[in-house]
Amino acid sequence: MKKLSESMPDAVRSILARRSVRRFHRDRPVEDWKRDCILASATSAPSAKGIRPFRFLVLEDRSILDSLADALSQGVIFKEATLAVAVCADLSSYPKDSLGWLEDCAAALENMLIAATSLDLSSVWFGVYRRSPKEEQVREVLKVPSHVEVQGIAVIGYGMEELPPRDAIDPQLVGIGSWNMAFEKSK
Ligand SMILES: Cc1cc2nc3c(=O)[nH]c(=O)nc-3n(C[C@H](O)[C@H](O)[C@H](O)COP(=O)(O)O)c2cc1C
Repeated sequence: MKKLSESMPDAVRSILARRSVRRFHRDRPVEDWKRDCILASATSAPSAKGIRPFRFLVLEDRSILDSLADALSQGVIFKEATLAVAVCADLSSYPKDSLGWLEDCAAALENMLIAATSLDLSSVWFGVYRRSPKEEQVREVLKVPSHVEVQGIAVIGYGMEELPPRDAIDPQLVGIGSWNMAFEKSK
């Protein structure tokens, strides 16, 4: 596996360094300016047709993070995290036949994780949409109305573990040209 150049741009370095961390220093809050950088990254995500249906719920009060931890069967992660951002989509006037909002939300969530990495924070993507019973539990705690979907939650904090960054292309995942040339060479 050929390693990438050491002089890669900072943005690429942060993308490759992002790993899922699930344990955080509970007594070390995310600074306001870092939170604001993360939120600016979220609201700057691309959006299909420029509709921008995404809405971001900032969860940093200990009481709401603890409520999520207590209510969710997989909620232990919120016990230590000091910042979470729930990525929602307001579908009240969104085209009924379009799933663009789901892609918009995913782009915004990934933007936040990369921004967090670049700010020396750790993070993990907490999947919510169509994941029962998590979805119902999250909606209940956050009091989300029926015209709003919750796509996922970026869970962020100062991490208690350090996972190695990636530093190369994974050749199993990349092929050149048409599908049969790239991935079905033996057929
Ligand atoms: C759509 C999506 C949903 C995910 N949901 C969860 C989750 O609910 N809980 C969790 O601990 N990790 C979740 N993850 C993180 C993945 O488990 C993680 O990205 C994967 O194991 C690869 O590890 P890495 O992020 O360190 O590269 C999710 C990731 C994605 C993209």
